[in-house]
Amino acid sequence: MRLDWTVKAGEPLNGVVDVPGDKSISHRALMFGALADGTTTVEYFLDGEDCLATLRAVESLGATVHRVSETELRIEGLGGAPLKSPEGALDLGNSGTSMRLFCGLLAGRNVHVTLTGDSSLSRRPMRRVLDPLAEMGAEISATDKGTAPLEIHPTTRMRGLQYTLPMASAQVKSAVLLAGLTAEGETTTIEPAPTRDHTERMLQAFGVDLEYAGRRATVKGGQTLKATHISVPADLSSAAFLLVAAAITPGSELTVRRVGTNPTRDGVLRVLRNMGASIELLNVDLLGGEPVADVRVRGSQLKGTEISGSLVALGIDEIPALCIAAAAAEGETRICGAEELKVKESDRLGAMIRGLQAIGVPVEERPDGMVIQGQKSWTGAVIDAHGDHRISMSFAIAALRASTPMEIRDCANVATSFPGFAALVRQLGFDLQETEVPA
Ligand code: S3P
Repeated sequence: MRLDWTVKAGEPLNGVVDVPGDKSISHRALMFGALADGTTTVEYFLDGEDCLATLRAVESLGATVHRVSETELRIEGLGGAPLKSPEGALDLGNSGTSMRLFCGLLAGRNVHVTLTGDSSLSRRPMRRVLDPLAEMGAEISATDKGTAPLEIHPTTRMRGLQYTLPMASAQVKSAVLLAGLTAEGETTTIEPAPTRDHTERMLQAFGVDLEYAGRRATVKGGQTLKATHISVPADLSSAAFLLVAAAITPGSELTVRRVGTNPTRDGVLRVLRNMGASIELLNVDLLGGEPVADVRVRGSQLKGTEISGSLVALGIDEIPALCIAAAAAEGETRICGAEELKVKESDRLGAMIRGLQAIGVPVEERPDGMVIQGQKSWTGAVIDAHGDHRISMSFAIAALRASTPMEIRDCANVATSFPGFAALVRQLGFDLQETEVPA
């Protein structure tokens, strides 16, 4: 069965809302908690499909995870005990973060593990992690195309590496640093542009001796993690859809509570401010090394902008939502240097360009991005979300400016990152109908 949405919306968004926990941080809390010595407690865990795939995987590797509630976990870590080689393959569903981080985490831990995923994950490039890990001594095989299934062969002798990443990718950086934990000597990553530093911050919270500044991070091999408590901030990548929705709708005043505002991750706030949006951060706090705030946005007329350079990596997952902000802005928005979007859960550049064209927003395709001409309004259309959660939610908020309903196909994967999205936007006044149709 395929899940489709029909969305009609038009009213300003008002109120104070909560969105689920951060996906990147929830994955890491499970993985690091599973390795750590002692019991790690996690609150505001993201109870979404991607993180549940990581949860099942760490259980198969020998850690015990108690679900105190849907969003609270108690993880009994393995400490120094050996990891188990699971019987069957670990199915990681749609989750690229799980697959790439597990490669690094498991490479030097003497386990035999096969990693598989759904049709989208099985198309995504894995050589970007396999190549540096091979230099460190890992033995991981993939298909001829460098895709999953991946087979991790038992290895214990890993070597430290100084690795200059060819692309800005927190997943690649994290995989190399995690492999560095079991390697001889030091492992250093150097990124072309800063990417989210959740791995660095959380490893430090787990007592790991890791140094990082700017685009460089170094970890010493042979370290063990010590259990801790992780309070997961609300996911800015999920909040982004609501923030953009409110920003493009005059009369809106919406606050999303306790959102992660890590400066290596806040591109969406920077871009919206560059577009003239009214954004305030209230109740600013620090939770286990991660900055959080209540983010309040008021609706106004946005203006076109440029999203390029380091802003791309800082807001990589929010660019689809920002395309909708650009479509509603006065003037032109240029997105450059965003090729990485082609290898996400779908080709997000292609999916957004085709979707914007379908609703009548002028957009010019560029090899590394697009140029969008903002409009006062557009029509609804049939949109193929390609099973990509962030494409589904982007066109759901596009319904705010559409003269006819938006029909979005293939939306089930919204459950990977934002369970409860449909209910939450209904509460904010959207008319969102869900239909199951034979695939
Ligand atoms: C993530 C890193 C980013 C991001 C993904 C989550 C992470 O991927 O798009 O949603 O948790 O490390 P890349 O490393 O491929 O840019």
